[in-house]
Amino acid sequence: MSQPYPTPTLRAIDGALMLENVALQEIAARCGTPTYVYSRAALTSAFEAYQRALAGRRALVCYAVKANSNLGVLSVFARLGAGFDIVSGGELARVLAAGGDAGKVVFSGVGKSRAEMRRAIEAGIRCFNVESAAELERLDEVAGQLGRKAPIALRVNPDVDPKTHPYISTGLKSNKFGVAFDDAFALYRRASQLPNLRVSGVACHIGSQLLDPAPMAEAAQKVLGLVDKLAAEGIALDHIDLGGGLGIRYRDENPPAVADYLAPLLAVFAGRREELCFEPGRSLVGNAGLLLTRIEYLKPGADRNFAIVDAAMNDLARPALYDAYHEVVAVRARDVPARRYEIVGPICESGDFLAHDRSLAVADGDLLAILSAGAYGMTMSSNYNTRGRAAEVIVDGDRIHLVRERETVDSLYALEKPLA
Ligand code: LLP
Repeated sequence: MSQPYPTPTLRAIDGALMLENVALQEIAARCGTPTYVYSRAALTSAFEAYQRALAGRRALVCYAVKANSNLGVLSVFARLGAGFDIVSGGELARVLAAGGDAGKVVFSGVGKSRAEMRRAIEAGIRCFNVESAAELERLDEVAGQLGRKAPIALRVNPDVDPKTHPYISTGLKSNKFGVAFDDAFALYRRASQLPNLRVSGVACHIGSQLLDPAPMAEAAQKVLGLVDKLAAEGIALDHIDLGGGLGIRYRDENPPAVADYLAPLLAVFAGRREELCFEPGRSLVGNAGLLLTRIEYLKPGADRNFAIVDAAMNDLARPALYDAYHEVVAVRARDVPARRYEIVGPICESGDFLAHDRSLAVADGDLLAILSAGAYGMTMSSNYNTRGRAAEVIVDGDRIHLVRERETVDSLYALEKPLA
């Protein structure tokens, strides 16, 4: 039988859901709910799929930390030899705290502050993916003050349509990201003249949850044209960063396997000496994680039935924010008739839903697993309604590692005080 769940290490045994060799019921009993649960084996196999597909090529996989920045998760990737794609000084600090190698860090983002630049130069990161002319000048100045040369790539905007959700498409002319493709050549010239910069590569990223490799291959072709044009001008690049973006199955999507996604890109650069970098986030962690939650109340209604759970939009914002679909399954099969439910949280907003119209055979107090929640789940969580963030757990074989404790209420206002 093919795996019924999008998470490769999740299965039902005697009617109870297990992640690797741990019953989800046991995690709830030990750590409470809501809790994010990640599978080390699933994280590892997702990363190894990239490594296998890139074997024999100069290549670096830089995990996009924004997808899931828990130190436990970062340490799993660091041990596998991953690089990291960061977008803030905070993410750099996390990577270093988790044992990541600064020499394999690329720094993306349109708004890098001077302090963030300084810290990243001092740490010795591999590359700044520079997103504007003004940033280039600022980075040169900051590097000069430190007496260092900062390695740079320009993040170019190849203006291709990634055919994904408009909020997560980044490579169109109308997006705020990257430098316009037509300006890149002149900016590289400028960069090569600035005394405190070392031109190292080129970067692009066109969007997220991509299900079709064609737009990426189109972007890669454009980038290759630029690389050749620069070489003819005497500006030789050492690496080409093609960003992240590979999609995952949430419901019935059919994303290409990592190898099939990379094959057309590798074909574009066949026989080239430049190192290829990738910045995958979602495809490394999305289906390695789930959100475990408990039903507080079943509330039958004239129009709809509600299952009110202890997780909410502050824990998992994707449904409210993007109308994203996450599979919801009962952790233990129960012999009651199935009903259709709106799965909602306790927050005082009608937008606080996790799933619409799902058929479940459940009773009060039952546990639910919200699947495919390993990416952009915990990292986009908030404390709205003064709700402490969920705990986080990594399952490894038959072991349960608590990698983030549940936030306590007093910690939520520890930095505040009443007016004197
Ligand atoms: N590199 C750059 C420069 C990025 O902007 C992103 C994601 C990635 C890499 C990683 O992309 P991935 O492989 O994860 O697709 N919050 C949204 C997704 C936002 C993605 C932003 N950029 C969501 O929950 O769907």
